[in-house]
Amino acid sequence: MANALLLENVHPLAEGILSDAGVEVKCVSGAMDPAELARSLDGVQILGIRSKTEVTQEVLEAAPDLLAVGAFCIGTNQIDLATAAEEGTAVFNAPYSNTRSVVELAVANIIALARRLTDRNAALHAGIWDKSASGSHEIRGRKLGIVGYGNIGSQLSVIAEMLGMQVYYYDTEEKLALGNAKRCSSLNELLDEVEAVTLHVDGRAGNAGIFGAEQFARMRPRSLFLNLSRGFVVDYDALHDALVSGHVAGAAVDVFPNEPKNRGDAFASPLVGLPNTILTPHVGGSTEEAQEDIGRFVAGKLRDYALHGTTTLSVNLPTLAPGDVAHAQRVAHLHHNTPGVLAHLNQILAEHDINIDAQVLATRGSLGYVVTDTNSVVSDDVLADLGKLPETVRLRVID
Ligand SMILES: NC(=O)c1ccc[n+]([C@@H]2O[C@H](COP(=O)([O-])OP(=O)(O)OC[C@H]3O[C@@H](n4cnc5c(N)ncnc54)[C@H](O)[C@@H]3O)[C@@H](O)[C@H]2O)c1
Repeated sequence: MANALLLENVHPLAEGILSDAGVEVKCVSGAMDPAELARSLDGVQILGIRSKTEVTQEVLEAAPDLLAVGAFCIGTNQIDLATAAEEGTAVFNAPYSNTRSVVELAVANIIALARRLTDRNAALHAGIWDKSASGSHEIRGRKLGIVGYGNIGSQLSVIAEMLGMQVYYYDTEEKLALGNAKRCSSLNELLDEVEAVTLHVDGRAGNAGIFGAEQFARMRPRSLFLNLSRGFVVDYDALHDALVSGHVAGAAVDVFPNEPKNRGDAFASPLVGLPNTILTPHVGGSTEEAQEDIGRFVAGKLRDYALHGTTTLSVNLPTLAPGDVAHAQRVAHLHHNTPGVLAHLNQILAEHDINIDAQVLATRGSLGYVVTDTNSVVSDDVLADLGKLPETVRLRVID
């Protein structure tokens, strides 16, 4: 039976999913520092963390039993992915679980800005009855420009259209236009056309400062601006100026270049106190539904890897989804990706008179992963010979 250690209050669904699969689960509410973590991983095959636990090279090298790490969040910066791959430890995360939450916040922001709910809300809290239609608009028929048409941008496209908006998008990659969305061939083409711009680009280094004074000036007068992607992609001093001059009629910002680390920490930004400006503390993806989905998704990946050798959507290993063939034994072999490994592996099986029912191979960079289903029991002798292959990183038999 495998043992799992789940840290940082991962969603209770995860414990249930792993226990139902026969895994012995221990839950710890807080994070662990690397030294404590290394001590705690003796005999642990599955580790679950969120963003506060660092899984360093030292931790991974001190944990030979560790099969898989589940990051119950979106990012995996806290894990040394390269060392994990070298050690044959699979890493999984939840890349899609909070995309809907971000989309819903973007929609809420667009409507709130178009109706100037910020100002109306502030006035009434200050005891002023400011009933007026001036500057308030429906979003129906308005042109929305989505920059970055990935998981989030494309979902937003569908929902914005359902609300009657005309969607334009710009992506550096060729992306299929959903519904009636129109593809723009440049950012400027999009900026010339739309009345609200929302950024959903990824965090690649080249995206630093892609939206600054020049782009705000290019936006149509009295447009709306949203950034729920990454803080460093926007020059917020330039946004400040555009909001103060009134060229940009309202903005919603969820992400900042230097975000405070802990809840309750002080926050400063040139955008604080500006009219019709919604500031949120990076909560685009933070909903209870997203947390639940993350718990279900990552625990499912860990279970499928432990039980079946499936690496679909692993962030560091070759991805394979071996089918459900009735077999006596499944041999999962992770190896250095050099010519001839598969031939050598099959030669050893043939020499031991082992027949192969099914076999699948995938490679990723310097690693190869082959899963072999046999119709006879793979003895310790066979395993010893397979283990002697110099390219072997990790060898596992799954009954
Ligand atoms: N606010 C939050 O809480 C929150 C939550 C989840 C994700 N995010 C962020 O939202 C962003 C989008 O996430 P996703 O899952 O849709 O990512 P994704 O990788 O699926 O999509 C990003 C898209 O942007 C495109 N792109 C990259 N650079 C571009 C550029 N300069 N111009 C135009 N297009 C460009 C890419 O080709 C890709 O299609 C990411 O930065 C992610 O970190 C924020």
